[in-house]
Amino acid sequence: MSRDPDPNSNAASSARVSDYVDFGPGRQRAASDDNRTPQPFEHGRLNSARIYDYLLDGKDNREIDRDMGDELLSGAPELKTLAWFTRSFGLKAVQMAADAGIRQFVDLGSGYPNSPNVHEAAQEIEPSARVVYVDYDPVVHAHCDALLAKADGVTALLGDIRHPRNILDLLENHTLIDFNEPVAITLIGVLHYVMDAEDPAGIIAAFRDQMAPGSYLAIAHGSLDSSPEVLQVLTGTNGTSAQVEFRTAAQTEALFSGFELFEPGVVPVQEWLRPDLPETRLVMLGGIGIKGK
Ligand SMILES: C[S@@+](CC[C@H](N)C(=O)[O-])C[C@H]1O[C@@H](n2cnc3c(N)ncnc32)[C@H](O)[C@@H]1O
Repeated sequence: MSRDPDPNSNAASSARVSDYVDFGPGRQRAASDDNRTPQPFEHGRLNSARIYDYLLDGKDNREIDRDMGDELLSGAPELKTLAWFTRSFGLKAVQMAADAGIRQFVDLGSGYPNSPNVHEAAQEIEPSARVVYVDYDPVVHAHCDALLAKADGVTALLGDIRHPRNILDLLENHTLIDFNEPVAITLIGVLHYVMDAEDPAGIIAAFRDQMAPGSYLAIAHGSLDSSPEVLQVLTGTNGTSAQVEFRTAAQTEALFSGFELFEPGVVPVQEWLRPDLPETRLVMLGGIGIKGK
């Protein structure tokens, strides 16, 4: 019997990563940076990590996030399913990199822990794999530190990808990552929170320039090919940390400058997983690239 969730159901909570991956046991102007950076005790403001946590059936969300989640679900009831497709895509990228021999991973915009997490996917293939989780939300960071960083080889950092040099300094100064060796960097559902004015290509370039040949880059990114209704609902996040700047496939592909894209290229994340998965009204593009020798 097929275990595919009904894409038109907003209660596709039976969807799990293991269904899709073989896993063992501004178009608007950017609001001010302060408004769009999560603060430790903000309760009355939308928060991207908590909305996503709600879509993944987690418990780390508040009423305001659930209301936005429900509004999104009313325009695109398949969003919960898509959230699992997207996580599955990220873990597939981790598996590809680990299978290729990569032993160090940086998950930028890691979100709340939700098993299986990156280190579980990587260490299933290579127990000695090291993983660094980075998020700019202090509450997300505290959860990652408490729940994930207990595992051997796992570290959680508080860091804002809009300031890549700060993150690179932490990674290098604490010898968490050896940039002489290949590394896999994942940005799953994160870069569309970076406005054009905040230079997403420059962020990727800063990391790319440190990455050794053979390193992997995986990006999942909201697409402007999503339905106009869904894009309209998303404007309700403007001025908060959940404000998005979705991009075209061509714009997303351009972020892989300096990397060779694996087939099938920058496509809806479903296409990376299985040929029979349904399309979604909110389109999430996924791409995986390798830095040339
Ligand atoms: C939609 S969640 C995705 C979580 C996770 N990558 C996953 O696939 O399940 C986006 C995460 O990115 C984080 N984030 C957004 N902008 C960020 C930034 N500038 N720097 C670091 N983290 C950021 C948010 O706090 C949130 O936890």
